[in-house]
Order: sequence, then structure tokens, then C-alpha cells
Amino acid sequence: MNITKICCIGAGYVGGPTMSVIAQKCPHITVTIVDINEARIAAWNDSDLTKLPVYEPGLAEVVAEARGRNLFFSTDVDTAIAEADMVFISVNTPTKTYGKGKGMAADLKFIELCARQIAAAATSDKIVVEKSTLPVRTAEALKSILHNTGNGVNFHILSNPEFLAEGTAVQDLHNPDRVLIGGETPEAVNALVDIYATWVPRERVLTTNLWSSELSKLTANAFLAQRVSSINAISELCERTGANVDEVSRAIGTDSRIGSKFLKASVGFGGSCFQKDILNLVYIARSYGLHEVAHYWEQVIIMNDHQKQRFADNIVQTMYNTVSGKKIAFLGWAFKKDTNDTRESAAIYVADSLLDEEANIIVYDPKVSAKQIYADLDYLCTRSPEENRRLVTVIETPYEAIQGAHAIAVLTEWDEFKGYDWKRIKDNMMKPAFVFDGRKLLANNNLSDIGFNYYAIGE
Ligand code: UDX
Ligand code: UDX
Repeated sequence: MNITKICCIGAGYVGGPTMSVIAQKCPHITVTIVDINEARIAAWNDSDLTKLPVYEPGLAEVVAEARGRNLFFSTDVDTAIAEADMVFISVNTPTKTYGKGKGMAADLKFIELCARQIAAAATSDKIVVEKSTLPVRTAEALKSILHNTGNGVNFHILSNPEFLAEGTAVQDLHNPDRVLIGGETPEAVNALVDIYATWVPRERVLTTNLWSSELSKLTANAFLAQRVSSINAISELCERTGANVDEVSRAIGTDSRIGSKFLKASVGFGGSCFQKDILNLVYIARSYGLHEVAHYWEQVIIMNDHQKQRFADNIVQTMYNTVSGKKIAFLGWAFKKDTNDTRESAAIYVADSLLDEEANIIVYDPKVSAKQIYADLDYLCTRSPEENRRLVTVIETPYEAIQGAHAIAVLTEWDEFKGYDWKRIKDNMMKPAFVFDGRKLLANNNLSDIGFNYYAIGE
């Protein structure tokens, strides 16, 4: 099977960067990314590359190289499907907010819509690739829809989960630890292997059956999140015992069986994947009657919720048990550095908790817009949009945000925060000046020596 045209449905954080890199590395393949969101497609087509809807270091350069050559962004979904040899599904699969499995299961509504649209628009054989993270055995449903509603053409289904992390997406795509492809038809599997093999060493392209591939993605995210919850659990114990969590991480991470990555204590993990995928894993385990398995993985989420809550509680407690009317400056709102993505960011939940205590919150994030910050808070439905705008102010320059603040809370580990003039910041704050560092980011900035009351996670 010779692939010359690819269509990807979903121009989000996964579809956009992944397909841009495929187009960059495979100039002989025409890649069209489609999306029902017109504004998003317009932003991908904007001649001003700073307006791309996804901020990722290095992405603008990749788009600049391939866009208009063999990379196209469009809202014409049917035409792109009809012309493609291979169709990637990269639409979102959020946690269900209604009905059976509410709050746990993945909502596959968009996946099914895509399958029906592919079936209706396809007039030639297609390889359909699951790029979105999906519950194990989703390919079965896809297959059934495609074969029962199609125009009599053949569909081969592959699972090709994406392991890129936001903030390092381009680097991860250029140099992946592995690419995983699950499928039943060797010709279809090989067609996708050949695409990746253009730039990824073949031994790093793993092939498995469909179900192993689907389940591996959920498992990888569950293991990664588990490490964060594990070190966060230890961070609380460090705070009580005089141990330092960074020192503990270093000490255990040098054991090659444990490894040093993903052992950074934090205010809690966020992002669109970890929580959603674990909830999904828990739901699947329960649906098979595996209650101990479900209970085991659920603890990872419970620990993460606890970590966010205790960070907020510690701020209130330390500031003499009241933050009412006090100005608390948030440095960072994104769920991690080097991304404008805020989905499930710990900052949202910490803010919500402090707003319950009637704090005034001033937010500065180098890449997140005020519109997004208010949308995140409004989405919680804890208080009215007017109330959120009354209590929360978003400021575009850090020094202005901090002016007159009673406390600073570091929620995202943006590098630029380390380079600030902390003496100047202290001089412009209310006294005593508190810093609550949810990322242990400013450990080397000698904040205590400057005169701050400095509290870091796990210290
Ligand atoms: C999403 C999922 O969160 C992740 O689990 C999965 O692995 C890949 O897809 P992401 O790319 O981060 O990841 O989601 P998002 O940025 O929301 O992008 C999805 C896009 O699909 C949106 O732009 C949305 O408009 C589009 N979409 C959704 C369609 O084009 N058609 C639909 O029917 C539904
Ligand atoms: C994750 C997976 O890493 C990736 O393979 C998958 O494709 C999607 O989900 P992502 O959510 O983009 O990627 O970022 P990641 O770097 O994994 O960080 C997730 C969250 O964990 C962030 O909030 C981050 O700050 C937090 N984290 C990570 C920690 O608190 N400590 C760590 O040591 C690592």
C-alpha cells in the first residue's frame, strides 16, 4: 500500500503538531488536517506564525517549512477524507459529563461521528488510524460502524497512540523513544511503519495487536501519573520530617531500576490526558468486575486531588488563616511550562479553593490569555462569571501583577520566573512577603535570604 495522501481529523494539540512533523519529514506525502472549528483552522493558516492555535517550541518553524508545500489546513472534511489513502482520527475524547460512566468513561461521541463521516465520504479503500487515546477495544466499534455504513470499500484499522508531551512535542516527534502501531492487516501496518521509518530508526517502531496498542497508551499515562503521585505523597512526608523531596528524588532516581525522570514533586499533575486516561482505566477495570485493579489506580487521582487541595490549604493556614480580601499573585496558569494549554491545570483548582476564601487573585502567565483563564474558572460553575471577573484579574506583565501582593504562588515552572529581580519584587509587596512555590522552582533564588517567607512543596 503506497500512501501519498493523508487526512487527519482534529487540528488540536495532538493532530496539529503530529501531522506537521509527518509533512515536514515526508515531502512526498500530502497531509491535510481538517477540523470542524473554523476559527482554529483560520489560526493554523494565519500568515503570522505567532498566532498558531497551539504554542510549542519549534512548531512555528515546522509549519513554516511544510505549510502550502504538502501541509494543508481545511474545514472541508469530506473532500479531505475522499482524497486520502490514510485517515487519522485525532479528535478529543473527553471524560463523559452525562449518563452511564459520567465523570469516568471516555466520551466517544466524536469518534463515532468521525467514523460515520469517513464511511459516508469514502469512495476508495482507506486505512483508518486511531490517534486519539481510546479505551481498549474501541477499534471494534470503529470497524463495525465503518463496515456497516460504508460504500462497500475496504477499511483497515490501526491504532497509533501519540506519546508526545506538550511543551516538548516537536522534539518528541522528531526523536521518539518509540512509535507504537497496532493492527491486524500486515500491509496496512507496514504502510504506516514506512512513513515513520522515514525519520525514526526502525527498531524504535514497535508493532503489536490492536488491543495491546490501545491499552499501552492508557497504561503509559497511568504509570507516568503514578510516579508523580508517588513522589507527591512523599513530598508531604518530607515537609513533616525535615527531609527534602528533591534530595530524595535524586537519591532514588540514580537507582537505574527506578530512573531519574518524572520524579519532580509538584502542586499536582494536570493536562488533558493523565486524569482522563486513569479515570477511563478505572472505569474499564470496573466494567470487567476488576474492583481491586480499579481501586488501585484510583488512588493516583485521589493523591493528586489531595496535593492540589493541601497546597491551597497551606496558603490560607500560613497567612494567619485568612486570605479574604488579600491579593495573591499567581505566577503561571498553564499545566506545565512551554505550553499555552490549561486543561486540568492545578492552578485552576488552587484558584477555585482560594476564591472560596474570598481571596483576590492576580494572574500572570507568559502564554495563557485572560479569555482562557476566565473560561477555565467559569467552566467549574462554582461561582458566577461576574464574580470570577470581580475576584480575578489577569495582568500581562509580571512586575505589575506582583505589585502590592500579600503572597505569590508559583503554579507553573516557566523558566523566566527564575530570572526575575526578586529583591525588587519583595520591595513592592506587602509584608511579610510570602512565596508558595508549587514547583520548587525558586529553590536556588535564595528567597529566604532576601527576606521572603518561602514555602516550597516537599521542603
Ligand atoms: C485529543 C484528546 O484529548 C486526546 O486524548 C487524544 O489522544 C487526541 O485528541 P488534543 O489534540 O489535545 O487531544 O485535543 P484538542 O486540542 O481538543 O483537539 C481536538 C480537535 O478535534 C478540536 O480542534 C476539535 O474542534 C476537533 N474535532 C472534534 C473535530 O474536528 N470534529 C469532531 O467531531 C470533534
Ligand atoms: C503526557 C505524557 O507524558 C505523554 O506521553 C502523553 O502523550 C500525554 O500525556 P503531557 O500531559 O503533555 O504528556 O505532559 P507531561 O510532561 O507528561 O506532564 C503532565 C503533568 O505532570 C504536568 O502537569 C506536569 O507538570 C506534571 N509533572 C510531570 C510533575 O508534576 N512532575 C514530574 O516529574 C513530571
